[in-house]
Order: sequence, then structure tokens, then C-alpha cells
Amino acid sequence: MNHLAIFASGAGSNAENIIQYFRNHPRISVNLIVCNKSGAGVLEIAEKEGIPVLLIEKEPFFRGPAYVAELQAKKIDLIVLAGFLWKIPEALVRAYPGRIINIHPALLPKYGGKGMYGRFVHEAVIAAGDKETGITIHYVDEQYDHGQPIFQARVLVEPGDTPETVAKKVHFLEYEHFPRIIQEVADLQNRS
Ligand code: GRF
Repeated sequence: MNHLAIFASGAGSNAENIIQYFRNHPRISVNLIVCNKSGAGVLEIAEKEGIPVLLIEKEPFFRGPAYVAELQAKKIDLIVLAGFLWKIPEALVRAYPGRIINIHPALLPKYGGKGMYGRFVHEAVIAAGDKETGITIHYVDEQYDHGQPIFQARVLVEPGDTPETVAKKVHFLEYEHFPRIIQEVADLQNRS
């Protein structure tokens, strides 16, 4: 059995989608929601879905044990970042090598890095006049949006598109692909 922890800072629409996908799944369960923002929408989703929450603080996360003990106590073996806005500290990357994945709302390596999230990404894509954008799902290392890519999906950027209309297209790709890719990564882990 794979026990997932979903890290999220915001609305949690990806978290919701992932939770629904793995409900009653034979091999994979969502066991924890980790959040760094009290009041975030994802906390209501966790409450509604009856999934335990771990609210984390900056100090212990970045300059302490990074909550590794709490994750191990919950037998977490795969960490999924779904709109989590903090960088993952070395202590956590080391504790979960090749077991932390992230979804980024652009075609990395373009439009990645610190501060590149949500509408800032879509504004940059439009400002650059790119004809397409998409999502990148990748392994997480010590740098923002930098680890080995796993999967990308693309969508056209059309004349008249705004950051909001691009965001809608990109969210659609996220909901369509992220749960399946998580399942493929988990199955790969179980075979290795
Ligand atoms: C998504 O666009 C995801 O690609 C990015 O953060 C956003 C999270 O949105 N990493 P939500 O909180 O899942 O609605």
C-alpha cells in the first residue's frame, strides 16, 4: 500500500481531485494533508474528506527536522506537492529521495523558479507571446521546479487568452493527468 501526503498552500482543487481519484483505490491512499497556511481552502477539503491535517511552521520546516518524523509516523512513502508554495528543505528531500513530486502550471524549464506560480506564470506566458503552455510534473530536489521531469501536457494559447482563461485550460490538464501520473510513480516505486 502507498500512503500519500499531499502538500498544499491554497484552494486545494488538485488535492480534492487526487483524493477523489484514490478513494477506495486498492493500492494507494491519501493519508495526510500538509499545509503551511491556516485558513487555506485545502483545510476545508481535508475536513470534508476526513483526512488528517498537519499544519507546519517555517522555523521547524526550514531550520529543523522538516517534520520528517511526523511523516514517517504516518507511514508516508510518497509526497505530492499540489500548489505548495515553499521550497522543500534538504532534510526532507534527503528523507524522501525520488519520492517527492510536484506539478507546475507551465512547460518547465520555462517559467519556473521562485515566485513563478499561479497567474504570474500565465501572465509571463502571454507576455512572451508563446503559442502553447501546459503542465510539468517532476521529481523535487533542493531547487524550485528543477528536478527530473516525469510528464508534460500541452495546450494552445490563443489570441485573446487572458491569465484567467489560460489558468482554466491549465487546471483542466492538471485534473486530467496528475492522479494517473501519481499512480504510475507509486507503481514504479513498488516495482523498484
Ligand atoms: C496549480 O495550478 C498547480 O499547478 C500549482 O499550484 C496550483 C494549485 O492549485 N502548483 P490548487 O490549490 O490545487 O487549486
